[in-house]
Amino acid sequence: MTRRAAITSIGRNLPPQVLDNKHFEQFAATNDEWIRTRTGIVTRHHAAPGTGSSELATKAAQECLERRGIAASEIDCIVLATVTPDMIFPATACLVQDNIGATKAWGFDISAACSGFVYALTVGAQFIESGAHRKVLVIGVDVMSSILDLTDRTTSILFGDGAGAVLLEPVEDGTGFLAFTHEVDGSGRAHLNMPAGGSLLPPTHETIDKKLHYVRQDGQVVFKYAVRKMADNSVLAVEKAGLKNEDIDLFIPHQANIRIIEAAQQRLGLPNEKVIKNISKYGNTTAATIPLGIYTALEEKRLKRGDNLLMTAVGAGLTVGSAVVRWSDLAF
Ligand SMILES: CC(C)(COP(=O)(O)OP(=O)(O)OC[C@H]1O[C@@H](n2cnc3c(N)ncnc32)[C@H](O)[C@@H]1OP(=O)(O)O)[C@@H](O)C(=O)NCCC(=O)NCCS
Repeated sequence: MTRRAAITSIGRNLPPQVLDNKHFEQFAATNDEWIRTRTGIVTRHHAAPGTGSSELATKAAQECLERRGIAASEIDCIVLATVTPDMIFPATACLVQDNIGATKAWGFDISAACSGFVYALTVGAQFIESGAHRKVLVIGVDVMSSILDLTDRTTSILFGDGAGAVLLEPVEDGTGFLAFTHEVDGSGRAHLNMPAGGSLLPPTHETIDKKLHYVRQDGQVVFKYAVRKMADNSVLAVEKAGLKNEDIDLFIPHQANIRIIEAAQQRLGLPNEKVIKNISKYGNTTAATIPLGIYTALEEKRLKRGDNLLMTAVGAGLTVGSAVVRWSDLAF
């Protein structure tokens, strides 16, 4: 049988502070009713100031290793997706490697915003399928609160912080990573970005005064793109896996807005019992969203061996990614 990459363990980390919608009323003209009905978000976690993504990612990775009962020294590679690294360099994957004591691992970061985890999963799966590696840690983490302008009601209320880590290992039993589809469209760069802090606009007093170190987005453009692409890209991945939409047992869509999720769900013709929705608790946690969704599915006992799992996300770039996995054994 073909060698494929199976998700054999999982861990997550959510910072302890939970903020409700009312919290944001002190900074901008918003309210609980608007946020609930327009986005589906009720609460989100925010890390304490001074918490780097590596801290959350390290804790998620440690839980993942403990569940599998293996030592960090057995990890071959760490692929970490984030747009809120501790520092622009070194990569956050290096910090996690040191923190967990993955003495034999190499690793690197991937920047694909909300699609980051799916990109990282695809990359990690290639190392397993090729036979190059036997244990790859794939991590999605973001501390979005570090780049939010709390006075901007169009972005501040949407995002939360978190981390999720999965372990990939080879299987030859018909389960594992079946297919992926990815797209990028850099012409959409203006619609969702953090303008300053890179080589184009290094930090100056002016960039700070103009609030260019925060998330900026044109919500309506991103909304329309996400609805279309989440469905279209998913269909391509399902076809590539040799399946039909009705063969999908569970759909974990990126959690940016409940209305985007439900529109994509409708386009794919999937009933509620096949769709994970946890946006009400976590908001949009960017690269952490999909692994937090897998974790929710396991908590709710909605994934069993042999199930066809579809994951899809859209993010800044613009980036799009979908992956289809036939679920393997995972002790939870
Ligand atoms: C941002 C988003 C929630 C805005 O929702 P929307 O229904 O498109 O709302 P609009 O932008 O049309 O704004 C409608 C009104 O609500 C206002 N509004 C926006 N945010 C608000 C808030 N937090 N509280 C109260 N009112 C708000 C707007 O200013 C606008 O007011 P106006 O009519 O007086 O101009 C929505 O567009 C969205 O979710 N976009 C995609 C976000 C996303 O996916 N981002 C990450 C990519 S992975």
